[in-house]
Amino acid sequence: MSVVIAIDGPAASGKGTLAKRAALAFGFAHLDTGSLYRAVGMAVLRAGMDPSDAEAAARAAWDLHPEDGILDDPALRTDEAAQAASKVAAVPAVREALLEFQRRFASTPPGDAPGAVLDGRDIGTVVCPSADAKLFVTASVEVRADRRLKELRGRGIPAIPSDVLEDMKARDARDSQRAVAPLRPAADAFVLDTSALDAEQAFAEAIGFIGSKTGLSPRGLKPRA
Ligand code: DC
Repeated sequence: MSVVIAIDGPAASGKGTLAKRAALAFGFAHLDTGSLYRAVGMAVLRAGMDPSDAEAAARAAWDLHPEDGILDDPALRTDEAAQAASKVAAVPAVREALLEFQRRFASTPPGDAPGAVLDGRDIGTVVCPSADAKLFVTASVEVRADRRLKELRGRGIPAIPSDVLEDMKARDARDSQRAVAPLRPAADAFVLDTSALDAEQAFAEAIGFIGSKTGLSPRGLKPRA
């Protein structure tokens, strides 16, 4: 039986970095489920359609073959892809089409890994409701917008602070107010507010929580007593 770790949270909360590092620490496979929605959003845009068009979005989702390396496309990391993803993600048929792939990844992780870390918005609530450990990683919208701004500027992309903040608020509203699988912590999730934490402190908290729920110790660290 695969050990499943669910990590949910809003955009730029740091959940992706945490999920990647946690997977490495425990020797688990990692799936960034946001990249599935981004791939669907980009496919719709590339077909010259509108990501809010439910039929076009559903068709793109059913046609998606995540095993084909499409999730590594650098175009998925753009803001254009993020906004398109947030729109297709509100379409129930899109969520349904992507469900099986995510659940299969969790139950039989690639590379015969003994466990899987999935990060997204609805992993603990919908995709893997019986996950062994659930984390909800969050931070204030101002802190998240500031992190995104630094990330963009670090990549040499000019950005206006007020635009980044407004985009973040718009995406938060869409993700948490949609009718299907809205962004919210599962009742049994550990809520980790990283507003006042640096990356190392957040990682230590996450690892400590996962260890306490699973009885596993991260690689390279002393086994738990
Ligand atoms: O985590 P991200 O920024 O890559 O996600 C992009 C969009 O995809 C996000 O705005 C909402 C959607 N999403 C979702 O609805 N459910 C998930 N499990 C992951 C992402």
